[in-house]
Amino acid sequence: MKILFHEAGRTFHLYNDSISYIMTIMKNGHLGQLYFGKRIQDREDFSYFLETCERPMTACIYEDDGAFSLEHLRQEYPVFGSTDYRQPAVEVRQENGSRISDFQYQSHEITEGKPVLEGLPATYAENGQEAETLTVTLADPVTKVQVQLLYTIFAQGGIIARSARFCHMGGQPVYLTRAMSLCMDLPDHDYVWQQLSGCWARECRIRTRSLEPGIQSVGSMRGNSSHEHNPFLVLKRRSTDERQGEAVGFSLIYSGNFRMQAEVDAHDTLRVLAGIDPETFEWKLESGEVFQTPEAVMVYTDQGLNHLSQTFHKLYQRRLARGYWRDRVRPILNNNWEATYFDFTEDRLIEIAAKAKECGVELFVLDDGWFGARSSDTAGLGDWKANTDRLPNGITGLAEKIEALGMKFGLWFEPEMVNKDSDLYRQHPDWILSTPQRGQSQGRHQHVLDFSRKEVVDAIYAQMAEILNNAKVSYIKWDMNRSISECYSTAWPADRQGEIYHRYILGVYSLYERLTAEFPEILFESCASGGGRFDPGMLYYAPQGWVSDNSDAVERLKIQYGTSMCYPVSSMGTHVSVTPNHQVFRCTPLHTRANVAYFGTFGYELDLNKLEPDELWAVREQIAFMKKYREVLQYGTFYRLQSPFEGNEAAWMVVSADQKTALVGWYRILNCVNARYTRLRLQGLNPSYCYKNSISGSCHYGDELMYAGLITSDATAGQVPSEAEGYTDFESRIYVLEVAQP
Ligand code: DGJ
Repeated sequence: MKILFHEAGRTFHLYNDSISYIMTIMKNGHLGQLYFGKRIQDREDFSYFLETCERPMTACIYEDDGAFSLEHLRQEYPVFGSTDYRQPAVEVRQENGSRISDFQYQSHEITEGKPVLEGLPATYAENGQEAETLTVTLADPVTKVQVQLLYTIFAQGGIIARSARFCHMGGQPVYLTRAMSLCMDLPDHDYVWQQLSGCWARECRIRTRSLEPGIQSVGSMRGNSSHEHNPFLVLKRRSTDERQGEAVGFSLIYSGNFRMQAEVDAHDTLRVLAGIDPETFEWKLESGEVFQTPEAVMVYTDQGLNHLSQTFHKLYQRRLARGYWRDRVRPILNNNWEATYFDFTEDRLIEIAAKAKECGVELFVLDDGWFGARSSDTAGLGDWKANTDRLPNGITGLAEKIEALGMKFGLWFEPEMVNKDSDLYRQHPDWILSTPQRGQSQGRHQHVLDFSRKEVVDAIYAQMAEILNNAKVSYIKWDMNRSISECYSTAWPADRQGEIYHRYILGVYSLYERLTAEFPEILFESCASGGGRFDPGMLYYAPQGWVSDNSDAVERLKIQYGTSMCYPVSSMGTHVSVTPNHQVFRCTPLHTRANVAYFGTFGYELDLNKLEPDELWAVREQIAFMKKYREVLQYGTFYRLQSPFEGNEAAWMVVSADQKTALVGWYRILNCVNARYTRLRLQGLNPSYCYKNSISGSCHYGDELMYAGLITSDATAGQVPSEAEGYTDFESRIYVLEVAQP
């Protein structure tokens, strides 16, 4: 890994074994983009990459150079209002109403490692050998605003992490009306765009389309990153698939309003922008003030989508997630939400926990309903004190009882919200986000606390810390069940109202930071009605997240498959729940529910007392299985093999780091009669290792399994089976492949 600056061509070359990223200082002082892709050899002068030609009807910067128009140049951080008519990365409004800026090169610095982004989640390097950072400082001569563009290249993988840091060195205040984290101008538009979109209980559907002239975008204006669109985007070549081909992934480490877009211009060049949604953002910079954008991560691969995802998985697992739980296998939990909803007593919880313990569960999680006047979703949020009618011994007493059973205890919070029917709201009605003289829309009967105010965050911290200091809590599920509306804070002046969405998220991050620092061994699981805020920003604080409120195994196949495009298995909260399923009312076999949930953190969302003896027996076996293989499942290399979006069967697999163990999950949605033969061509195995198949008992070399395939046909191929069991709808199998003779 290296970052070089060549004086001759005024070019920067960032490279490692996988990629090269090359830029130049153009004649107007702006940064021009020259190349991002597979590693190429270094040379003194790459400036020939900066193609210019004189085009008719073009506005140009210089009288004597008809070829130098920003409209036709690929740039690193394009401005609004000069000769570029595409969407800019940055826009600054002065007090006189001007919106033009002109950021020119001042200096640059190359440093080992990676700087921390203050107050924001970001990837990190543990030492100077893991990464190197280039900081290029540009300044606008009129406003005297400086922007530092940060580029980190990691030693391993095709990864570039980027962000921008503004510092106002002038006198008059200015307003940032757009400050994107990344602009990537690519020389052609011959890509297929792939996004992860959906809605509540139907998150992360993989959607693709060809890029066309104009702007295509995804984003959120809801205050949370959203169920609707994940802050993740892939551009892949038409011929690229899971196993081969070029692709670039863009991921924004942010949990609030965002935008990711691609603009194809008239000459088929492509501009990608990623950052805070400009529509809902404005930031006032007084003299001397600083604004740091969130970080965006770009990954390039020429080895297909699985490789792209694996690069993100590894980075986010090891150098975004932090702390005690980062590298540890996750406890198998039993959550009471779908078992009881709000209808529980201490005795009932102990009953559920005791049975879970008997089966081998390690952590009991008490979900919503334990505090204040919370007997339904109309009251109580904001009052984080145990409801002693239900829990006579409080959280302290309940936690003691759970610990006495030999399990860890976990607790649900929704720190950012308040019901009007709560003591907190009665004491501080002005602590919610709401616009003067306007109605206050509710969502699930709740309102959003004004986390742009430090005193509000402090008050919630104090309540949570009181619980955590007095009870043995080992896990927190941090929920967030509505988007923001009427976003306005009475604590801030009129000219800072454009800052509130972002300040809100900074408040959320600050509370996470405080709690994770103060209680470092608590495992945090983020949640926002399932995947409403399943994003890299959250992963920095909470190494796992509840992927979806939909716990149906068939639905989960799609949700987890889509989520795996960017996020590692260890980050996905996955539970076995009852049938008929509570979201889609489908009945799937117990083993299929577990076979899907194994590819995640794994747990149960039901009352095990209600299962039949044979089911309980199966649960015990599932838990023992998960304990045996969770290290590989959660930290192995994950491959998507067959997409549930494309057919009746789906499959994925993980392989251990030493390639001696692999687990293949195979799923068939509907049964077929007289079916074709089926095979799965596996990936990631050692071609010369011989693997024993746990289902057939036969041994096969890695090359057979990868190139010829694992045979998955069953007795329904060609005949009606004599025993129906195992040959029904929603069938699935886990093939464990273990090296017989390395
Ligand atoms: C939404 C979450 O996603 C559920 O798992 C559960 O915690 C409920 N909120 C509780 O209100």
